[in-house]
Amino acid sequence: MRILSGVQPSGKLHIGNYFGAIRQFVELQHKGHGLYFIADLHALTTIREAERLRELNHDVALNFLSLGLDPEKATLFRQSDIPEVTELSWILSTVTPMGLLERAHSFKDKTARGISADHGLFAYPVLMAADILVYHSDVVPVGKDQKQHLEITRDIAVKFNQTYCKHFDPATGEGGVLKLPNPHILEDTAVVPGIDGQKMSKSYNNTIELFAPEKEVKKRIMSIKTDSTSLEDPKNPDTCNVFALLKLFARPDELEEIRQLYVKGGVGYGDFKKKLLEFFLATFGEARKRYEELSANEDYVQDVLRKGALKAREIATEVMDQVRRAIGLK
Ligand code: ADP
Ligand code: TRP
Repeated sequence: MRILSGVQPSGKLHIGNYFGAIRQFVELQHKGHGLYFIADLHALTTIREAERLRELNHDVALNFLSLGLDPEKATLFRQSDIPEVTELSWILSTVTPMGLLERAHSFKDKTARGISADHGLFAYPVLMAADILVYHSDVVPVGKDQKQHLEITRDIAVKFNQTYCKHFDPATGEGGVLKLPNPHILEDTAVVPGIDGQKMSKSYNNTIELFAPEKEVKKRIMSIKTDSTSLEDPKNPDTCNVFALLKLFARPDELEEIRQLYVKGGVGYGDFKKKLLEFFLATFGEARKRYEELSANEDYVQDVLRKGALKAREIATEVMDQVRRAIGLK
C-alpha cells in the first residue's frame, strides 16, 4: 500500500496540522510505504519571499522528523525536487474541465471575497492531482478541508483514463493508467479550531504553533477566546474552544473529569487553559526536544531530503513512462 500526503511550507506548523494530518502520517508509516512531501510549489501561491520560503521549507522537514517520521521507513522529500510532477500537471490540465476548477473552494472563496486570483491558485487542484497520481498512491491522509481536492483528483484521473485507456472501467478503476486514490480523513479531529474559534489555519493568525518557544505557546493558549461566564458559574463544554482543544489531548476518563468541572462551576477558564498547556507540553515535549537537537544539524535534514527525492523520483519516472506512452509522447 502506498500512502502519500503533503503539507505546504506556507507558515509554521500548528496543532491543527498535527491532529488533522501529521499524526496520521506517523501512524501510517508502519502500515505501508509512506511518501510525505513538502508542497513548496503550492506554497508559491502565497509566499513570495525567497529567503522565507527556504527557511520554511527546511523548518517543515525538521518538524516532520521531530514528530516521529522515520526516514528509514517513510520517504520524505520536497515537491519541487520531482520535475515529473509539473510535467504531469500540464498533461492533466489538458483533460481537466474548467467547471471542475471553477467549483473548487480555494478559488471560489477568494474570488467571492473580491480578491483577484492568479492562474496558480486556479490550477492548484491540478498540481495536487499530479502530486497524488504520479506515485500511484492508494491512500491520502489529510484533514477534512482537503476532501474536495481529493474528489477533484479522482475526477481528473477518471477523465484521463477515459480519454486514453480503452479498457478503463470507472466503476472499479480497473484498466486505467492512473490509479484512483482514496482519502483517509479522521472524523473526530477533522477540523481543529483556532484560538478565535474558526478553523485553525496558518493563514488566519489563530494558530498554536507546535515548536514556538514555551512562553509564546502559553501566550497563545491564554488568549483563546471564551465567553464571559464567571468563575463560579457552570460552563458549557460543548461550545467552549478550550474544551474542544482539550478533547484532542485528554484520555476519555480525563476528559470526563474535566467535563464535570465545567458543568459544576467553580473553575475558571484560566485554569482550563493551564491544563491545556500542561497537556500540550506533555504531548509535544519529546518532539520539541528533538527539534532543538536537529536544528543544529542542517546537513542531516538536507541529506534526508536528497535521499527521499531519489526514491520518490524512481516511482514517478516509472508512472510518467506509462503516461507518456498512453498519450503518444512516446
Ligand atoms: P493551513 O490551513 O494551516 O495552511 P494546510 O492547508 O497546509 O494548513 O494543511 C496541511 C494539512 O493539515 C492538511 O492535511 C490539512 O487538512 C490539515 N489541517 C490544516 N488545518 C487543520 C485544522 N484546523 N484541523 C484539522 N486539520 C487541519
Ligand atoms: N493542498 C494541501 C494542503 O494545503 C497540500 C498538498 C499538496 C497535498 N499536494 C498534496 C496534500 C497531495 C495531500 C496530497 O494541505
